[in-house]
Amino acid sequence: MCGIVGYIGNREACPILIGGLRRLEYRGYDSAGIALLNHEGNLNVYKEIGKVANLEAHLADKDASGVIGIAHTRWATHGVPSVRNAHPHLSQSGRLALVHNGIIENYAPIKQHLSEQGYTFQSDTDTEVLVQLIEFCQQRDNLPLHEAVRRALNEVIGAYAIAVVDRQEPDMLVVARQSSPLVIGVGEDNSEFFVASDATPIIEYTNNMVYLNDGEVTCLRIGQEMQIHTLQNEHVDAQVQFVDMSIGSIEKGGFDHFMIKEIYEQPQSMRECMRGRLLASRHEVVLSAVNLHRAKFLQAKRIIIVSCGTSWHAGLIGKQLIESWCRIPVTVEYASEFRYSDAVVGPDDVVIAVSQSGETADTLAALQLARERGAFLMGIVNAVGSSIARTTDTGIYTHVGPEIGVASTKAFTGQVLVFAMFALALGREKGVIDTQTYEHVIDELSRIPDKMETVLRQNDYIADLSKRFTYAHNFIYLGRGYNYPVALEGALKLKEISYIHAEGYPAAEMKHGPIALIDGEMPVVCIATHHQLYEKILSNIQEVKSRGGRVFAVVTEGDESVCKLADYCIQVPETLSPLAPLLAVVPLQLLAYHVAVQKGLNVDRPRNLAKSVTVE
Ligand code: AGP
Ligand code: GLU
Repeated sequence: MCGIVGYIGNREACPILIGGLRRLEYRGYDSAGIALLNHEGNLNVYKEIGKVANLEAHLADKDASGVIGIAHTRWATHGVPSVRNAHPHLSQSGRLALVHNGIIENYAPIKQHLSEQGYTFQSDTDTEVLVQLIEFCQQRDNLPLHEAVRRALNEVIGAYAIAVVDRQEPDMLVVARQSSPLVIGVGEDNSEFFVASDATPIIEYTNNMVYLNDGEVTCLRIGQEMQIHTLQNEHVDAQVQFVDMSIGSIEKGGFDHFMIKEIYEQPQSMRECMRGRLLASRHEVVLSAVNLHRAKFLQAKRIIIVSCGTSWHAGLIGKQLIESWCRIPVTVEYASEFRYSDAVVGPDDVVIAVSQSGETADTLAALQLARERGAFLMGIVNAVGSSIARTTDTGIYTHVGPEIGVASTKAFTGQVLVFAMFALALGREKGVIDTQTYEHVIDELSRIPDKMETVLRQNDYIADLSKRFTYAHNFIYLGRGYNYPVALEGALKLKEISYIHAEGYPAAEMKHGPIALIDGEMPVVCIATHHQLYEKILSNIQEVKSRGGRVFAVVTEGDESVCKLADYCIQVPETLSPLAPLLAVVPLQLLAYHVAVQKGLNVDRPRNLAKSVTVE
């Protein structure tokens, strides 16, 4: 889910491609590679693990020339980051090279079929299966490259932006997309074409761009109009647009900061996370981690969740979901405390580590302790191939794409969503969740991305409200039940990026101490969506108002009671209370973001914080 770049023209492709990869590096990466083809049909592939700079260094003493080329920065989904798994991938005969962003969901049966036809595979990626499938179609039916690509893509389920070259047709570059972005830059009189995941690498060469639509395959040849066909082979006219933008404005996809971009990505990252797992039409959740280790999970007497920061907050929600739907006792531990504790943990326990980066030192150490004491280890991790992903016995990737902003946003909602799917799948296996609840939650989960879009539409209103809070030195966040961890997460977001002191509390705890802080200066954020404790939190809000506190409430659409009391209300769509955190956290992310922006702070790189805490 990282970046691709392509070029066909009369210039040396290598510097254009490397420059393009550099511009795409902001999307996150774990390895990079390039394939260069010249008109004589010489095809050379170079790959390196790590940054684009490593690839550049690797190329320094090579004669890397060619006027057609494709390049890739990878953010692994299938197979650990390694040179072997880095793109471009070659076909069996070595005639095709391909780069791919996305996931080929049905790669396993295709791989099986191709293996039976004698194909062998050098990598663990889903991508290599696709390049072999294209060659298989090409050879079986004696097809030109673009036709073979179209045929192969008709057999593929999943998301892709691809670029392919063929040493036997060294005058063309073929690209296609489905659910992953791809832009084509058009040189004067079609003398050259540029391809990239977004306009950033292209804008310095041309403003004339064609944004491919889903299901379109395009053949690019020097001096010729590009040929676009749908997967059903219908011709499509290219719509060339004049894109008037500066490089500065597009590096973050048009957003001012990565954090706000990532907040906005959440509806899509929810869809990515559910893809192939939440089968709404069959009313089923399928998780290979649960299927493959069924016995371990069914035997578990207890689940211990270990994590830090935002991932710990997701764990608190995970506990409630697992206890409700699986009836297994769960404890949630700070990894940093657990690692040095004399924890009673053993072979009857499942330990779940939650981590965006997969590299957090404390979480890794907690896993090591659990491993020594014989527990079964599972990871809920975003970064594929990371240390935690490799250390655990099994895992469920959140698949929300790279998160660059230091303040975690889309990783949190991804973790909560994975916990929900995990608890549903395990509850079903154990036979403790009733069919009606199971199916109802599945239906509701499939509606969450659209409901998140509705919440995001209130961004301007929240931005406006945020101006009223920049004076504050302290904030209190209150929530109950599933919304209590949301209060903690909202407070952490504000602290991290606006440097305003903020505390989250279970709302009823307020009267046991924090209520002493409340006065006319104190903003109190109450998460008061409809659920079984709604009446209770209403009373808590009364208590705040009676002491002059200023209440910013997150409520369910149509709410009247809280809105009458609160100073400011943000409405989120109705959902089931176990899923409320997925919607309720979004206004709090936006509030923290806008307060920090108002204060002129560095939102993406707040002081003193690192994205990945690899030290104790
Ligand atoms: C979140 O906004 C933080 N920057 C931080 O609390 C983070 O969640 C924590 O360091 C854990 O990181 P991990 O998920 O990569 O393990
Ligand atoms: N699924 C592919 C892989 O794991 C592509 C990942 C990407 O989009 O970078 O190699």
